[in-house]
Amino acid sequence: MSAELKTISIGMLGCGVVGSQVARLLQSDEQELSERSGALLVLKKIGVRSNAAREGINPSMITTDLNSIVNDPEINIVIEVMGGIEPARTLILEAIKNKKSVITANKALLATHGHELFNAADAAKVDLYYEAAVAGAIPIIRSMRESLAGDQITRVMGIVNGTTNYILTKMHEEGRAFNDVLKEAQSLGYAEADPTADIEGHDAAAKAALLASLAFHSTVTIDEVYCEGITGISIDDVNAAKAMGSVIKLLAIAELTVKDEISVRVHPVMLPNSHPLASVRNAFNAVYVESEAAGQLMFYGRGAGGAPTASAILGDLVAVTRHRAYSTVGYGESDYADLDIAPVGDVKSQFFVRLHVADKSGVLAAIAQVFASEKISIQTVRQAGLGSDAELVVVTHAATESSLKGCIKKLTDMDIVSKVESVIRVEGVVA
Ligand code: HSE
Repeated sequence: MSAELKTISIGMLGCGVVGSQVARLLQSDEQELSERSGALLVLKKIGVRSNAAREGINPSMITTDLNSIVNDPEINIVIEVMGGIEPARTLILEAIKNKKSVITANKALLATHGHELFNAADAAKVDLYYEAAVAGAIPIIRSMRESLAGDQITRVMGIVNGTTNYILTKMHEEGRAFNDVLKEAQSLGYAEADPTADIEGHDAAAKAALLASLAFHSTVTIDEVYCEGITGISIDDVNAAKAMGSVIKLLAIAELTVKDEISVRVHPVMLPNSHPLASVRNAFNAVYVESEAAGQLMFYGRGAGGAPTASAILGDLVAVTRHRAYSTVGYGESDYADLDIAPVGDVKSQFFVRLHVADKSGVLAAIAQVFASEKISIQTVRQAGLGSDAELVVVTHAATESSLKGCIKKLTDMDIVSKVESVIRVEGVVA
């Protein structure tokens, strides 16, 4: 290593599943990472909430005084892997004010206060990098921000939550119950501390906001993302999807509408087995990007877990260190387009509707009439079962959310309909 390399000191906030892997890799690969960065990288302090001993980490590095990291004049780069909104937001702002570049994996924070944090970084002329915040190891942020900077992205669809993809895969392939698989995903270290964030779609919604912001050069926050999780998906839905040659996935979708608004949403989707995202199994993530010139691109890899997420953080660390070594900064937030968010009721999708009805003549005609009354065209109808409890599965052509909602209300009120079991959007087939 060249003798004249300057030292870049790193402080880390948090040392859980991800932080401990960052520390391990940073210490074991210090020399190589330094060669790649053009500066000698030294992990100086790790801030934690409780200073219990941590394997492989020198106890003298650990502190519970988180402010001492962001205010340490010797620390040049702060890695934030503690999660949550506060105190992470205040600590990051303080670090930026003190001219430290920041690398964070905190999607919830960026999807809520990103604009404030990016503005602060811009004003202080430091980097705020976040590759690890979306889809773990997959280099999707840099690809969208840099490699696709010359193209017009029109749509992004992602499987961006490993826990829910793991659950849906096991339900589909092994017919196992939801709760049983959730426990397994937690024990494998994929799930958030509170798995509600995974199964209700909030984790994916934060990532959808970040992807939408990047794709459409506009600030999109998590509260603008329409969000449904997977807790309503039953084994019967999974089996009905299978019978149709499809699979159910939780997708984060960000697309440009015909009115040049952004539609951004997270919900379960039925995908035909032939769609590239349908083959993304277990805890793997994938992001499928459609753009005007490049066409379709798919990015695939591990979206959760300590080492994969640490890989993305270390990639940012090398980039940010290089910038510091050359006294420059990288790409910041690009929000010049400032597009509006499309009202969810206007968004068009195909729908799968599974309902239980009385099996007698005229029932199908009456049901078809309700769809027609909302100007929803039916693509296919399949009936299973006999007698008082027949099951109908209707797949519609593209219709707006609001007409579908009107249709479901009318169906629910009909005497011949005992229950509308489920409504799932269908993507990836020709309407
Ligand atoms: N809980 C998340 C997941 C981890 O399951 O994908 C990465 O954000």
